[in-house]
Formats: sequence, structure tokens, C-alpha cells
Amino acid sequence: MATPGGSGQGQPLSNEWQDLGLVDELKKMKCRRMWAEKGSDVALFCITEGDKERFFVTNAKCPHENGPLDQGDIEDMGNGKYKLICPIHFYTFDLDTGISETHAPMQVAVFPTETRDGHLFVKYPEVLSKKNPKKRPSRF
Ligand code: FES
Repeated sequence: MATPGGSGQGQPLSNEWQDLGLVDELKKMKCRRMWAEKGSDVALFCITEGDKERFFVTNAKCPHENGPLDQGDIEDMGNGKYKLICPIHFYTFDLDTGISETHAPMQVAVFPTETRDGHLFVKYPEVLSKKNPKKRPSRF
């Protein structure tokens, strides 16, 4: 198994683990979009179980018709299982496998996460940012 670490936040790693930041900060939002400089953005979900957090990262676009999965809902299925519900047509996806429960074999890409030393790492081939690097500042 690959081991995260050593990269620092925001450095390109080419399908290696990258540091998304402090768990204490990231857990403040249940879901957010993480922007890719190139390629596909992802949706980052934080689920609190007791005094621990679990993080899931999926492609930000629904495989059905590109709905914004970072605006979807999460439902607790019990036994540590969660499903993601797309806000557009309400297809559901298992957050562990990405497989649609309602429309298999449709599947959204999911990416491994791991916490180390208070930081969240994800294995993803693009550099991710909490801010949209493509957005231009407003003139007014
Ligand atoms: S766009 Fe997600 S279910 Fe249709």
C-alpha cells in the first residue's frame, strides 16, 4: 500500500497521495468541491461517526448527466455504509464503491483517502485546491 506524506499541500504528485489540509479544518464542511487545476474536480464529503470523521472523495460530476455531486445528500445506510444522492435526478451511489444502487452498473469514480498526523490525504492524479483556480476576480 502506498504511503502518503512528504509532498506538502498543493504539489503535483501524479497519482500519488496529496495532502488536502488539516482534518480539523476540513471537517467543518460536510461537503465541498475541490477544484482541479486541470481535469476533473472532485467532491469531498466528511461524515462524523461519534468522535471520528470519515472522508470520501468522488468525481464532482454525476456519471448520469453531470449533476453536481458536491451538492448531493448523504444518507446513512447503517453498518458504516453511506450513499450519495445526486441532486438532479436522485440516482444513488455507494460511497465506498461508487456503484449506483438505483442504476447499476453506472458508477462514479471514488478515490482513496487516509488521515495521517491530523492531515487528510487523497490519492488523485491532479493538484486539488479549495478555491477555483479558473475563477477570475471580480472587477467590482
Ligand atoms: S445528473 Fe445525477 S442522477 Fe441525473
